[in-house]
Amino acid sequence: MKFPRCDQSPAWGALQAHYEAAGRSFDLRQAFATEPDRFADWSLRSPEVFADLSKNRIDAAALKLLLQLAQDCGLESQREAMFAGEAINHTEGRAVLHTALRAPAGSGLHGAEVQASLERMLAFADSVPAAGFTDVVHIGIGGSDLGPAMVVQALQAYGRPGIKLHFVSNVDGHDLAPVLQALNPASTLFVIASKTFTTQETLANALAAKAWFQAAGGTDIAKHFVATSSNTQAAGAFGITTTFGFWDWVGGRYSLWSVIGLPIAIAIGGENFRALLAGANAMDEHFRSAPLAQNLPVLLALIDIWYRNFHGFTSRSVAPYHQGLKRLPAYLQQLEMESNGKGVDREGQALPYATSPVVWGEAGTNGQHAYFQMLHQGTDVIPVEFIAVKTPRFGVSGELLERLNDQHQKLLANCLAQSQALMQGKSVEEALGEKAPTASASLDAQTVARHRSFPGNRPSTTFVLDELSPRSLGALVALYEHRVFVSGALWGINSFDQWGVELGKALCSALLPRLVSGDVAGLDGSTAGLLKHLKA
Ligand code: F6P
Repeated sequence: MKFPRCDQSPAWGALQAHYEAAGRSFDLRQAFATEPDRFADWSLRSPEVFADLSKNRIDAAALKLLLQLAQDCGLESQREAMFAGEAINHTEGRAVLHTALRAPAGSGLHGAEVQASLERMLAFADSVPAAGFTDVVHIGIGGSDLGPAMVVQALQAYGRPGIKLHFVSNVDGHDLAPVLQALNPASTLFVIASKTFTTQETLANALAAKAWFQAAGGTDIAKHFVATSSNTQAAGAFGITTTFGFWDWVGGRYSLWSVIGLPIAIAIGGENFRALLAGANAMDEHFRSAPLAQNLPVLLALIDIWYRNFHGFTSRSVAPYHQGLKRLPAYLQQLEMESNGKGVDREGQALPYATSPVVWGEAGTNGQHAYFQMLHQGTDVIPVEFIAVKTPRFGVSGELLERLNDQHQKLLANCLAQSQALMQGKSVEEALGEKAPTASASLDAQTVARHRSFPGNRPSTTFVLDELSPRSLGALVALYEHRVFVSGALWGINSFDQWGVELGKALCSALLPRLVSGDVAGLDGSTAGLLKHLKA
């Protein structure tokens, strides 16, 4: 089915006109002053995730046009095409069915095989501690690493005792070496995760791990190495006899719900893994059934488009105020930028408008002491996404618990203060009225005040989770997945291929022998120069 691109909708031009008339000059402080119900009007409760959108530079008229845009682009039909298993990843002729992995047991497309695969994986995961393993090394990269690594980190409070998870992804031996150095091969299980089982980094690390295991006297490769892959044959050729397979309709960056989630299941157990799936499924249902105007992934994506294509904001910063979510920005970078970092539409025509923003960030409050300076006073406007968690789960008791609970209030206060500061700003006049004890005495008050003023009117969204649990994390990740789907659908791109990673891989293969031989014939001047310098 062919769907109109966003710029083919009359709403596109109307949005441009509205931006010129009201969007460019929109002021959040004024909006709150004139709209007493702005918080209620622009906040939304979706499964597990409460979202405050009110600090975004958007008004009702822009939203109306954006919703029209979504209708004109056939968003609802595009969404149904995904859920129905149509080959919407048309450049690879594949369906996109990660939602089927979290449908209630046995329901949905491929229900029986999904359940069989899940049961088998969970049974294995639950057997790992009893099999004498104390350490699990997960070797994979990109979608075969970021999701599991992020979730295991986030759900540490749900971790089963006696099992330690390690993640190795980089082909740089500095990633693998320290992990192996601390391990006893006799009690170590290696999970080699690669959808294709052809990825250079993963195969290199897997071979190195196997050599280390054998050098230490390990013989039972079949027991100590398992694979999660859709290429069972290649895993077999590696010497692995236990492979958890999956299907080509699960994209790498959407695969943590599949057997790629094995380390998650090992870390938190089968019941918690099912809760993760259930949370994601609840968000799928919300995405599929809520009217567009009350549909959180849709609203987020529409604001993303408003910012990217009309305001011209080039990036978005994610600031999770929960240490467990420190890997979320990296996870989201792949999810969003590998999905929507495209320059041609579905027909291969060059796009006349911008697509994926740069997504980046760091856990709060650490980010505050690093790059928040730029968010507050820099020359770029960068929308920020705050994620707060109401109730912490420290797994400690007594006085320490009291102290950490108190620290949690500090964390939340910081989170609220940052979005408040971004929005409110501080005028030169306000700064003039304040004392600035550390300012140089040789500067006049006006100059100091100009340095100490903040433009304000900087937009942000705040998500609140009641707690960081398997269920809420599942819902949060699914929320992001669907948001990326919606913006990709309106931009008219294929969000599910990643041809952009190919060229570098091919050139790497060609350069590898040259790094040994030193042959630079035919190379461009810079690459030749660098290669010679590295060889010297
Ligand atoms: O580098 C691109 C990519 O293909 C990602 O899309 C994917 O998640 C990653 O490499 C790893 O691929 P595989 O699971 O096949 O090893």
